[in-house]
Amino acid sequence: MQLKQLTEIYATRVDAALTGLLADTAGCSPLLQEALSYSLLNGGKRLRPLLVYATGQALGASPESCDRPAMAVELIHAYSLVHDDLPAMDDDDLRRGRPTCHKAFDEATAILTGDALQTLAFEVLADDQQPAALALVQTLAQASGTRGMVAGQMLDLQGEGQQLTLEQLEQLHNHKTGALIRAAVRMGALTAGATATTLNTLDTYAAALGLAFQVQDDLLDIKGDAALLGKKTGADALLHKATYPGLLGVEGAEQKALALVEHACECLNNLPGDWDCLRELAAWSISRNF
Ligand code: IPE
Ligand code: IPE
Ligand code: MG
Ligand code: MG
Ligand code: MG
Repeated sequence: MQLKQLTEIYATRVDAALTGLLADTAGCSPLLQEALSYSLLNGGKRLRPLLVYATGQALGASPESCDRPAMAVELIHAYSLVHDDLPAMDDDDLRRGRPTCHKAFDEATAILTGDALQTLAFEVLADDQQPAALALVQTLAQASGTRGMVAGQMLDLQGEGQQLTLEQLEQLHNHKTGALIRAAVRMGALTAGATATTLNTLDTYAAALGLAFQVQDDLLDIKGDAALLGKKTGADALLHKATYPGLLGVEGAEQKALALVEHACECLNNLPGDWDCLRELAAWSISRNF
């Protein structure tokens, strides 16, 4: 099946699962519920759920068994975006084509919405009846916190106005964005009961993909179309963020992204099975314009 078809099928699938999950949180504050739904069920490319499903499927896992990991990783991602946009962080007004959560509601509600999305992610995983449940919780917790996304966000904020080395920038990007992308692939593979060798090979793929994805995010901030992206462009320059085009120039960053994608695809040659979907995803991660 083509990537486009798969994307539609799995985005619809995870959206339905997330809608059901939020319906189940009825009974909490109606305002919080509205903010949760506003921040979660609002489009978004659903890349991380797609990686869970595509990896799981390539290794023989059923879509049903991938639903909870797919939901969980998107919940963490949505929380990271709500907090990323806060005035104390990137201070952004637009996300996924709509006012950011703190603009549509208020700051306190946005902070609590992020908190609630994060805890829901682990509730969803803990409810999973499958044998890999504990490993899934560990994978997502490690990728989200001090060894992953939160640490990367800290480095990102500390890097504002700083001239980082390429190595420092890579560490920053690998944490803030790469960690959750790696977790998504690993969670799909764990759900399918993959061997340690397969997990390691897929991790090399995912690390390259995660970095390429953030390099493209940096490039789109410079040359993208805000209407297509659904978020403001030029924001990185305004905040003096450390970025790949900032360090290597636009062309240098484009070459870096291409080399990363080639490396990601090469890693898949070491695995038996049909990995075309993950190859196409890697290529799309740097050709996308949204
Ligand atoms: C944006 O992520 C933030 C980064 C980690 C680069 P996405 O580009 O996946 O955002 P959505 O989910 O499609 O809105
Ligand atoms: C965000 O990176 C990474 C996380 C949300 C963890 P950016 O700050 O570059 O993402 P955008 O450009 O606002 O989507
Ligand atoms: Mg940011
Ligand atoms: Mg941001
Ligand atoms: Mg960005």
